[in-house]
Amino acid sequence: MKEILKVENLKKYFPVKKGIFSRVAGYVKAVDSVSLAINKGKVVGLVGESGCGKTTLGRTIIKLYEPSEGKIIFDNIDITSMSRKRMRPLRKRIQYIFQDPYSSLNPRMTVLDIVGEGPVIHNIVKSNAEKRKLVENILNKVGLSEEHADRYPHEFSGGQRQRIGIARSMALNPELIVCDEPISALDVSIQAQIINLLVDLKNEFDMSYLFISHDLKVVEYISDEVAVMYMGRLVEYALAPVLYSEPLHPYTLALIDAIPVIDKKTKSKKIFLQGDVPSPLNPPAGCPFHTRCAECIEKCRKETPELREVRKGHRVACHRR
Ligand SMILES: Nc1ncnc2c1ncn2[C@@H]1O[C@H](COP(=O)(O)OP(=O)(O)OP(=O)(O)O)[C@@H](O)[C@H]1O
Ligand SMILES: [Mg+2]
Repeated sequence: MKEILKVENLKKYFPVKKGIFSRVAGYVKAVDSVSLAINKGKVVGLVGESGCGKTTLGRTIIKLYEPSEGKIIFDNIDITSMSRKRMRPLRKRIQYIFQDPYSSLNPRMTVLDIVGEGPVIHNIVKSNAEKRKLVENILNKVGLSEEHADRYPHEFSGGQRQRIGIARSMALNPELIVCDEPISALDVSIQAQIINLLVDLKNEFDMSYLFISHDLKVVEYISDEVAVMYMGRLVEYALAPVLYSEPLHPYTLALIDAIPVIDKKTKSKKIFLQGDVPSPLNPPAGCPFHTRCAECIEKCRKETPELREVRKGHRVACHRR
C-alpha cells in the first residue's frame, strides 16, 4: 500500500516571549516528537482535548508552520525544508479544510471566485468559461448547484458554507486533505450530512484525510486508524476498531468512557479524568499524563514513555502496558 504521508519525530515549538525586550522565556511544545503515516485512500483520525496540539500538527504537516524538528514526507518527497517556491507544485496536492466556515471564506468574493481561485493560480483553467465549468461541476459534487456560483458567502447557511469550503479544497483534485474539526461549528443535524459528503468524496476521488476532531464517535465512524494526542505527544495509535474495542492507554480509556451512551443497559465504570490539563508552558516531568492518571507509579514521574508497538499495529506510550 502506498504511503501518501509520513511524519517522523515531528516537533513544533512556539517561543514564549516576555518583557519589553521580548526575551524568549521558554517554549510551548505544541507538537513533540509525533510520528504517523497515512496510506493512500485512508483516513487517520486525530483526537485529544482542546489545546493538545491537533491544529498545530495539521498546520505543520501542510507547512503553514515551519517545523522545529523532524521530517515530513509527502508521496516520498521530503518537504520538511522545501522553500515556498519549490512547494508550489505540491501545494495543490495537499489541502486544508478549516473548522470555521464563517471566517474562512472571503466575504467579498463570489463562490465562483472562491472555488475557482486555486485552479486559476495553478493554471488548471485557462479561461473564464473553463473556470465556471469546473466550479459548477464541483458545486454539484458537494451538493450545491450552479446558481450558487454567483452568490456571496453571507447568503449561505453554516452547512452550505462548509460545503463551499470543501468545494474550494476539492477544486485542485488533492490527494491529501487535512480536515481540522470540519463539523464542530455546525448544527448537529447538519454534521452527519457533511461527514457523509466527506466520505463519499474520499471514496470517489481516492483521497486521504487527516481528520482532526475531539468527537470520538465521529472519528470512529470515518477513520481507518486513530491517533490519540495528549500535550503534544501521541499516546496511542491503532486501527480504529482495535482502539475502540481494546483501548490501552489510561487517557484513551477515559476519553472513550466519556462518550455519552444512549443505551442505558450498558453500565460503564466511568473513569473520570481527574484535574485539568497541565500548563503547556510548564509540562510535568516524565509521562505528561501522570498528574491525572490513576495508575501512576514512580517511573511515570521520571521517565517519558516512548510510543511502542505492543501488538501488531497497536502502539501505546505507557509504562504500565
Ligand atoms: N501560533 C501560536 N503561537 C504560540 N502558541 C501557540 C500557537 N498556536 C498554538 N499555540 C499553543 O500550542 C498549543 C496547541 O494548540 P492547538 O491550537 O494546536 O491545539 P488544538 O488541539 O488544536 O486545540 P483545539 O481543540 O482547541 O482546537 C496550545 O498550548 C496553544 O496555546
Ligand atoms: Mg484546533
